[in-house]
Amino acid sequence: MLLKDKVAIITGGARGLGEVYCHRFAEEGAKVMVADINGEGAIKVAEAIRKSGGNATPFKVDVSKEQDTKSMAETCAKMYGRIDILVNNAAIFYGLKYTPFDQLSSEEWDRILSVNVKGVWLCVKAVAPHMKQQGGGRIINVASGAPLKGNPGLLHYNASKAAVIGITRTLAKELGKHWINVNAVAPGFTLTEASMLMAGEDRMNQAVAARCLPKQEETEDVVGTVVFLASDMSKFITGQTLAVNGGDLFL
Ligand SMILES: NC(=O)c1ccc[n+]([C@@H]2O[C@H](COP(=O)([O-])OP(=O)(O)OC[C@H]3O[C@@H](n4cnc5c(N)ncnc54)[C@H](O)[C@@H]3O)[C@@H](O)[C@H]2O)c1
Repeated sequence: MLLKDKVAIITGGARGLGEVYCHRFAEEGAKVMVADINGEGAIKVAEAIRKSGGNATPFKVDVSKEQDTKSMAETCAKMYGRIDILVNNAAIFYGLKYTPFDQLSSEEWDRILSVNVKGVWLCVKAVAPHMKQQGGGRIINVASGAPLKGNPGLLHYNASKAAVIGITRTLAKELGKHWINVNAVAPGFTLTEASMLMAGEDRMNQAVAARCLPKQEETEDVVGTVVFLASDMSKFITGQTLAVNGGDLFL
């Protein structure tokens, strides 16, 4: 078990990749707070983990609201006594539509960036004092390959995920002296309800054709890297973004 007795907050844990991270973290021995704006979904995931013998607690949070993120961190620290790992996975991804940059509304721009960028910052701001006090921790931010490739039609999303890479590097420098590692994972198109709705079959097939390892990317292909970054196996890695995409682009 790579995460035995570690305490992890996983945002966006109610569905898709986040749900898979929650299950695997619990299987690796972690106590998991399943944090999501979808409170009912978080309850379902936590119940499923408990049914299979794991330890999980649901928490309803809007990561773009500072008070929510503070109470998420405080509740976790009170319940489990510490916070070892934060996985900043929550983002607005579901329902995104490919839109030329000059047809994006200012409201839509703000909606995406307030969750995908401000949400990451607020969760770190809420959790870092606990990690500092206990002498260290792990933060894993979920970026994406999309800004690295510059996929057209997703300027707001690509800007938000490029920001996550910048946030990761800056926080690694600010938090290293407290033994807090900050890294990011950048998945390629991965089969989830959200990506399939957005990309459609043609784009998914194009992604396969671009890969050195020519297959669809599945959630199981991503989760191991996130566990690795949360575990002691990666304890001298910080500030990095690991692209998990079967080799469709190299960082
Ligand atoms: N699936 C892919 O192809 C892919 C590729 C690269 C990166 N990513 C990133 O991986 C992560 C998960 O992707 P997914 O496909 O599972 O998407 P998803 O939309 O299914 O999951 C996102 C989760 O975040 C939650 N969420 C949204 N807004 C929130 C808020 N304000 N506060 C708290 N929770 C909130 C949602 O309820 C949902 O459970 C996202 O950060 C996404 O950008 C996905």
